Amino acid sequence: MNLGKKVIYQIYPKSFYDSNGDGVGDIRGIIEKIPYIAKLNIDYIWFNPFFVSPQYDNGYDIADYYKIDPKFGTMDDFEELAAKLKEHNIGIMLDMVFNHCSTEHEWFKKALAGDPKYKAYFYLRDPKEDCSLPTNWQSKFGGPAWEKFGDTGKYYLHLYAKQQADLDWHNPDVRQEAANVVNFWREHGVSGFRFDVLNVIGKDKVLVDSTDPNQEKMLYTDTPVVHQYIKELNENSFGQDADSITVGEMSSTTIENSIRYSNPAEHELSMIFSFHHLKVDYDHGEKWSMVPFDFKKLKEIMFEWQTGMDQGNGWQALFWNNHDQPWALNRFGDPVKYRNKSAEMLATTIHLMRGTPYIYMGEELGMVDPSYQSMDQYVDVEAINAYNELIKTHSKEEAFKIVHSKARDNSRTPMHWDGSEYAGFSQVKPWLLPTDQEQINVEKEFASGEIFNYYQKLIKLRKSEDLISDGHFEPLFADDHQVFAYLRKLNGETLVVINNFYGDPCEVSVPSELQKSGNVLISNYARELSELPAKLKLQPYESLAFKL
Ligand code: NOJ
Repeated sequence: MNLGKKVIYQIYPKSFYDSNGDGVGDIRGIIEKIPYIAKLNIDYIWFNPFFVSPQYDNGYDIADYYKIDPKFGTMDDFEELAAKLKEHNIGIMLDMVFNHCSTEHEWFKKALAGDPKYKAYFYLRDPKEDCSLPTNWQSKFGGPAWEKFGDTGKYYLHLYAKQQADLDWHNPDVRQEAANVVNFWREHGVSGFRFDVLNVIGKDKVLVDSTDPNQEKMLYTDTPVVHQYIKELNENSFGQDADSITVGEMSSTTIENSIRYSNPAEHELSMIFSFHHLKVDYDHGEKWSMVPFDFKKLKEIMFEWQTGMDQGNGWQALFWNNHDQPWALNRFGDPVKYRNKSAEMLATTIHLMRGTPYIYMGEELGMVDPSYQSMDQYVDVEAINAYNELIKTHSKEEAFKIVHSKARDNSRTPMHWDGSEYAGFSQVKPWLLPTDQEQINVEKEFASGEIFNYYQKLIKLRKSEDLISDGHFEPLFADDHQVFAYLRKLNGETLVVINNFYGDPCEVSVPSELQKSGNVLISNYARELSELPAKLKLQPYESLAFKL
């Protein structure tokens, strides 16, 4: 399979389309909207988890990996979805959450009831001698990473919410359970798998206190056993299918490890998600802060990853948005004055890079963060915990502004199908409210928009141009403060990709070896050019791809 020719669309099922009027999106809703998705000509859909879950972390707390949660539908609905997608040549990528399971999973319940087999599935530890928690580790959602294990006197580890108990991958039974789940879905025709926070499954057997938050991450991130366990999972499950496609979500990872995770010779995964480029608007690494994004850093990170992964034959998932991020348009573009142009510029920047692009539902319409006015409009456990922490050191107004700019709920609002009260998503009040749907919605986009069309062109280009799918990557204008440019090279051909990342016009000096005749592959200003000039003037948020 040529991964460079594939494009993946991500659907957050809870917010895509509500077919049965309960305010929550569902599988039958997705089936109804297949004709819409098919217009983009994407190859796979990654679905966030729709398995049985108490939803403390919106489905990332799975209580039964083998069943569809009734809120989302039935197994019959799933089979129908898979069959209908197949008619459109669209594959399914399921979200496998194996670092942890819900505390309502029967494994955890049996462990709590004292069953030694299942107690060995989790990280259960005694308190320290002074009765304090087993280690000083912090949960990624705030607060300590340990919670009382019933009244046993022990504690269980949870790197995420306390309803998500970490599974102990050192236990071969746990690894077999993971393979069984993947194999079950393979038997149901699934060939795509996204593995949640996969690089933190290799915690040590003996857990020790950390000296600081960064060192703490090192204690459980990208440890050597992670590679070993992924190879084993590959061999025992998805690796048996020639056409499987897998992506590992890698938190705080390195290029070196990511090459190993994704180089085909290693037999681990097809590709990885990394997140360094989405931390360039964090103040000193702190997510819950508000600072303008650091363009220089963004370029440095992306250039380093693109060249490093290219040299090591690793493979990257290319993305700006997902269900854990506020919209990129709000962070890096101008959603008010240049919504269309900046959305297209952001799309061009990553779609012409080396890797497999992911499009998060609504991105193709240029959706933006909701204009919520108060904290009670947010539902995400992470946002609520962050707000409660922030008000200890900030005014309530400041705390709200910060949460508003960074909350995961920003991208989880219902898809805007039309401009009606609930955005055509549902007949009743949805679980999370949409805002601004009068300005941005599918109906309007089809009538007079340009972003959806532009995405269609980008996807088409990737499929027809080997330079885009297979070309090598080289940075261009590395020191420019406003322009994000690069080259793709293959078999003597060169693609020049130039993006003005800001709302002011600018000019770049084109090196003489690129001042050659060729043709425009895509331009968001309908530019016609038969040769790159020595001085190239760029309009606000202009993107241009020129093939020599
Ligand atoms: C990453 C997922 O994308 C996120 O939504 C979830 O909260 C954490 N992993 C924990 O499963």
